[in-house]
Amino acid sequence: MKLAQRVSSIQPSATLALSAKAKALKTQGIEVIDFGLGEPDFDTPDEIKNAAIEALRAGFTKYTAPGGIDELKAAIVEKFRRDNNLQYEKNQVVVSCGAKHSLYNLAQVLFERGDEVLIPAPYWVSYPDQVRLNDAMPVFIETREEDHFLLTRDLLAARITPRTKALILNSPSNPTGSAYTQKQLEELVDVILEKRLIVISDEIYEPFVYDGFKHVSFAAIHPELKNRTIVVNGVSKSYAMTGWRIGYAAGPRDVITAIETVQSQSTSNPTSIAQKAAVAALRGGSRFTEMMVAEFDQRRRYIVKRLNEMPGVSCLMPRGAFYAFPNVMALMNRRWKDRAFKSVNDLADYFLEEARIAVVAGDAFGAPGHLRISYATALPLIEKGMDRMAEAIKKLKETH
Ligand SMILES: Cc1ncc(COP(=O)(O)O)c(C=O)c1O
Repeated sequence: MKLAQRVSSIQPSATLALSAKAKALKTQGIEVIDFGLGEPDFDTPDEIKNAAIEALRAGFTKYTAPGGIDELKAAIVEKFRRDNNLQYEKNQVVVSCGAKHSLYNLAQVLFERGDEVLIPAPYWVSYPDQVRLNDAMPVFIETREEDHFLLTRDLLAARITPRTKALILNSPSNPTGSAYTQKQLEELVDVILEKRLIVISDEIYEPFVYDGFKHVSFAAIHPELKNRTIVVNGVSKSYAMTGWRIGYAAGPRDVITAIETVQSQSTSNPTSIAQKAAVAALRGGSRFTEMMVAEFDQRRRYIVKRLNEMPGVSCLMPRGAFYAFPNVMALMNRRWKDRAFKSVNDLADYFLEEARIAVVAGDAFGAPGHLRISYATALPLIEKGMDRMAEAIKKLKETH
């Protein structure tokens, strides 16, 4: 069948492709340690599940307002006030089926043919294709490892053209684990205001920060920025609720109203009982989040130490999220038997086949010399996986 042109320009998600490969091996009875996961390995807490069960029993099973129930919007407004020092009205907030859906809706209501959208690289896999699906052009800004993959004022200014409409920021970042301090964000403000850019600030990993790092919302750092920024967040990562599909966006009223209209003609409301669960999460889930973050911190230190002990691998200490992002360029000129590695994809395949560990190749994130290794996996499995990776690296020979 002849498909629409816009579909031919996009790729299936690389992280999902990797889990398909890992699953295929598992069905053959091969035990694979999965470092590909982009979700906490914890179960949703019982208090949150109970809120959904109660809602179900009470018959809260009908359509809701397309942009989310009032009670959840109020909990989101309260969250922004409490955690981010941001004041929004309920009509400046919209609830969607996951943060991914919030981001897609934003691309729908903001972008069109001729628009350029700035995306610092390495980036989360879905940003470029969401931009393309809405006829606009992603423009990548290469950040430097020595700057901890953070966008600087000069790098940003150099890529702005008269067609630049928006910048997508992600802090803490998937895949790099980098996060911007208030000062690093402030450095970008002048250019953004002068060029009247819209900022989409994806803050889905907000609570996952370590070593006393303080997350600051981009919308909160300058009064004028709040009118140019749409903050995207959700309950997926913070409360181990990836399957419930609740995300949200907050920003200028016209943008939020437009998203509600799009949702009213596309998805309608996010699942009614999941919305009730999200209220419980936002109002009472912080202790659970703190427990998870403390556990991830331990794993983070361990995995980064192990990676840096491997010859040919170097890994920055991530400030946030739950990914290690080692540089493996030095492994690319080694070979296994007569097999050379043309790309980091080949290397990831080698690790899957030989070490039976699933890691994501950086190509999909615009980082061809890196691997993304999620530490949302129990520590004993991380230990075993790192042993296997170290062994597999030992088997490689230098190419001459
Ligand atoms: C950077 C980033 N933004 C957004 C999302 C989407 O989250 P959700 O599950 O709420 O759609 C993810 C999930 O992997 C992510 O890593």
